[in-house]
Amino acid sequence: MSQDHESLENLLSEDRTFPASAQFAAAANAQPDLYARAEKDRLAFWDEQAKSLQWDTPWNKTLDWQPPYAKWFIGGKLNASVNALDRHVSEGRGSRVAFHFEGEPGDTRTITYAELLTDVKKTANALIELGVKAGDRVAIYMPMIPEAAVAMLACARMGAPHSVVFGGFSADALLSRIQDADAKIVITADGGFRKGAAFALKPAVDEALKGKHNVEKVLVVQRTKQETAWTERDVWWHEIVGRQSSEHVAESFDSEHPLFILYTSGTTAKPKGIFHTTGGYLTQVAYTHKMVFDIKPETDVYWCTADVGWVTGHSYIVYGPLINGATQVMYEGTPDTPHKGRIFELIAKYGVTILYTAPTLIRTWMKWGDEFPQAHDLSSLRLLGSVGEPINPEAWMWYREVIGGNRCPIVDTWWQTETGAIMISPLPGVTATKPGSAMTALPGISAKVVDDNAVPVGKGHGGYLILDQPWPSMLRGIWGENERYKETYWSRFEGIYFAGDGAKLDNDGAIWLLGRVDDVMNVSGHRISTTEVESALVSHEAVAEAAVVGAADAMTGQGIVAFVILRGGIEHADGEELNKALRNHVTKEIGAIAKPRQILIVNELPKTRSGKIMRRLLKDVAENRVVGDATTLADPNVMKLISEGLQSAKSED
Ligand code: WT7
Repeated sequence: MSQDHESLENLLSEDRTFPASAQFAAAANAQPDLYARAEKDRLAFWDEQAKSLQWDTPWNKTLDWQPPYAKWFIGGKLNASVNALDRHVSEGRGSRVAFHFEGEPGDTRTITYAELLTDVKKTANALIELGVKAGDRVAIYMPMIPEAAVAMLACARMGAPHSVVFGGFSADALLSRIQDADAKIVITADGGFRKGAAFALKPAVDEALKGKHNVEKVLVVQRTKQETAWTERDVWWHEIVGRQSSEHVAESFDSEHPLFILYTSGTTAKPKGIFHTTGGYLTQVAYTHKMVFDIKPETDVYWCTADVGWVTGHSYIVYGPLINGATQVMYEGTPDTPHKGRIFELIAKYGVTILYTAPTLIRTWMKWGDEFPQAHDLSSLRLLGSVGEPINPEAWMWYREVIGGNRCPIVDTWWQTETGAIMISPLPGVTATKPGSAMTALPGISAKVVDDNAVPVGKGHGGYLILDQPWPSMLRGIWGENERYKETYWSRFEGIYFAGDGAKLDNDGAIWLLGRVDDVMNVSGHRISTTEVESALVSHEAVAEAAVVGAADAMTGQGIVAFVILRGGIEHADGEELNKALRNHVTKEIGAIAKPRQILIVNELPKTRSGKIMRRLLKDVAENRVVGDATTLADPNVMKLISEGLQSAKSED
């Protein structure tokens, strides 16, 4: 393949590798033979994983694959909530802590598996009283409190698919999701605590329900005790759940019974209701949680910092960890309340051993400065995970050194709402990791990097990331939109799942994620990923975080415009000097072709509530356009500040 026709350039190279310590390797859940076992017979391998769940009726066929529709463990019956809870209690693990809950104001609750099971049974009984039946959809719009997990598990117990809507979304966003899934009940709270204050949730539900819908009841958890307007439709959680029986016999559901719907953000179009079913999903989340996080349920304290409103919260707070009997930390608030060391303080308080978080938070910590983590004892940590975006090599190194004390393996886990569970990741104890690479597909998963004609690109080249074999936790469709399902995921390459991400293979065959292909820049005919230029910028000692976009350029087609946040303590008095230094740094790291046309120092970047940078909005600024739809922004003021800054900055053309 000629250089000129690369689907995506391969610019950055990274030689550092970190093999696991012999001690970690010896005790690891994953052993090297896992790859060979999966390779030998993929379906037998997944059968074996599925057998670690409790099935009431065994399946008679592992996979039925009529592209793009898969069914897994056909004929099998099970109950998700029984697998997450009853099983532990009946096998004598009822007194194990399931959640150490920490509210933002500092209130705490310790919930054992036995207590969680009782709460879930009572909540299921309350839902029955409210008229919910198997198959009905239940919308859940909650802060990060234990009742969010209880609500999800109670729905799962009754076979009523839940649709969790992130508590930071607006009334409009909530209504469109209630309508699309045709939810019968909404479960919410009066409010929650965030950034040092109570915020209200219930008014957004009331506002949403002014629209057209078939919601019959609203079940409301009392969390903040703030004044809450009430209608006939509303029921207090503590009143109805409190008086229920703690007996509830769970029914078995078909392996392919829908477990949940989760809407992906869809900033430009109608959100997509990604739906997942039961047996395959639970099999893969439990397997990946066990192998990728090396969970030792008797001794580990695991903390995933995601919100239950995202798929990470579904798979790696609720279903995976509970099935594996893990003890977790659940935290309600923001990482800087009441101080920037809150997360580190909690790691020390609960003796957290496994931490799973997102690059956006890691880069924020870098920006705040090392003094915050250094003020706390983080020596309990033994494994670190990352998810949500490519993690820049420098951020990875910082995570390893400052948070992990150079002793914890890092698992950079690539997956999507659509994939349901982790697909590409190192196996701790097995894989020698490289800073910034998600490494290789997990045993049982087949991922490839291909060119425009679906031909694998080979080592040292970039292209499109595809999944060419069905996997147990794959989405079963977009709720009610078959054509859109085929069109969105299966049409770019006939019969092959295209994830929407660019990636490259390095010379050892490790996979490097390069961001969404929609973000790829085209500079003088070279297709350059935003990730690589951002990583080059972040590798400069002054930079904590960077976002780059391709802006229309009369000479080169597109020119690279970079928005940069400096590390804590770095002065940017001499903007001119630093600007030049950064542009030269990119040239040195990856070549003159990727040298930014313009660099703007900013204090914040536009991000979604899940922490993903919204490059589309930065592109509007860089091309002097009115900034487009910014309704999914976490902080609506950010774009105004950036536009003002850009107008006063000098162009470097
Ligand atoms: C998109 C999926 C997976 C749970 C949270 C996000 C990006 C995710 C990584 C990673 C590089 C990553 C991809 C993917 N992404 N993890 N480790 N390295 N990119 O779920 O909101 O469905 O987003 O997030 O672009 O396609 P999601």
